[in-house]
Amino acid sequence: MHAGNLDGNFGRMNDPTSAASICGPCGDEMEFYLTIVDDVIRDVRYFTSGCGNTRACGAAVARRAKGRRVTDALSISAGELIRSGDCEPHEGRHCAILAVSTLYRAIADYLLHP
Ligand code: FES
Repeated sequence: MHAGNLDGNFGRMNDPTSAASICGPCGDEMEFYLTIVDDVIRDVRYFTSGCGNTRACGAAVARRAKGRRVTDALSISAGELIRSGDCEPHEGRHCAILAVSTLYRAIADYLLHP
């Protein structure tokens, strides 16, 4: 974890159960790392070099996913992030989609290689 970083889920993970990264249409990269035990997401890290809104969306997805069963975490949606105000609604809808899609891909990675 980075010193002085208030968002404890920001960063990379050395030995995740599964991980994924997607490059969005804007060129920003989003990465998700999951530690999964008995189908429960025990720990989550996300990393992005993108804008503040991208990072806010990554943080919101990580916060929502932590502690949930993998199938429950699939109900986290970009619409939910936008409606809740965690994502800047005017410029940033694609940031929410990028964050949620990367989580989905990491979960798919786990489901295909349990
Ligand atoms: Fe590219 Fe946010 S501006 S994902």
